[in-house]
Amino acid sequence: MSSATTRPPPAHQRSRAWAHRHLTGLQGLGAEEIRFLLRAARAMAEARPAERSDLLHGRAIANLFFEDSTRTRLSFSLAAKRLGAEVVDLAGAGSSVSKGETLLDTARTVAAMGVQALVIRHNASGAAEAVARDEQSGGRVSVLNAGDGRHEHPSQGLLDALTLAEAFDRLETFDLTGLRFAIVGDIVHSRVARSDIAALTALGASIVCVGPPTFAPDSLRALGVEVERDLDAVLPEVDGVQSLRIQFERAASVSTPRDYAAGYQLNAERAGRMRPHAVVLHPGPFNRGIEITGEIADREQGPRSLILRQVANGVPVRMACLAACLGALPT
Ligand code: CP
Repeated sequence: MSSATTRPPPAHQRSRAWAHRHLTGLQGLGAEEIRFLLRAARAMAEARPAERSDLLHGRAIANLFFEDSTRTRLSFSLAAKRLGAEVVDLAGAGSSVSKGETLLDTARTVAAMGVQALVIRHNASGAAEAVARDEQSGGRVSVLNAGDGRHEHPSQGLLDALTLAEAFDRLETFDLTGLRFAIVGDIVHSRVARSDIAALTALGASIVCVGPPTFAPDSLRALGVEVERDLDAVLPEVDGVQSLRIQFERAASVSTPRDYAAGYQLNAERAGRMRPHAVVLHPGPFNRGIEITGEIADREQGPRSLILRQVANGVPVRMACLAACLGALPT
């Protein structure tokens, strides 16, 4: 196995230290801390992807996923392996969680095996934070939130910021000032939306949340965003749209998908109202034909779509997050 070393982050990155052992959310982080991670991710992305780094050689990372995942779980695993770490995986099904073991007891048990980081996805908002605060687990290891309930999904917020910075030629500064993005759909149940709002507003972008009141309540304004109901009126004014999945597993009552699609589906007709340069994102997985149609989501048909760029950027972003939290990046 090759052990070529990933190019170290550039010198300008070292002017700011990353002082955190855990990454449980983006809310509360400063713009320079977010930029630090994004610059590190950019350096990781520019290194030849087939090469392994030894930044985390000798470390072990445990994925604890108590909710389903494709993108986040696989890309955290790839990220850890590309940094030379060992990876172990635990899913809720098939683990001792099914015998009644609590999250904290599971985290303490895995931490006691000598891993250095726990990557946690859980359906309870605050789950990762609870483990991070626990002396016997988070007190010993780094905790990275891979999505907790409707609270935060910090690595998704970072990869969305990286994708937009790339699309709008802001990789040198990670300054999104002057850009305006719409987040559309089931925002109230979305941890992605909260992390996107934290990241993108910290970097200077303005955000408008669009959806029916059940999905985009006026209370979202407390996060520093605008709230609008009429997607067709918003589309000509934004530089990009992040379409969100209706989270049927969390939404107790939703309008019928057909009613929802009539007002908020991103389709060819609506894409025609967007500015020529405007882009389309979706964190995935998507309900094809409900919040977004294939002609928009699929790159061959919807040239605005950055959905697979988001997926690709997930790997270097998660490499940066792991390396930063484990103190393996120069500061
Ligand atoms: N965006 C995202 O979190 O996707 P997965 O649920 O597949 O990880």
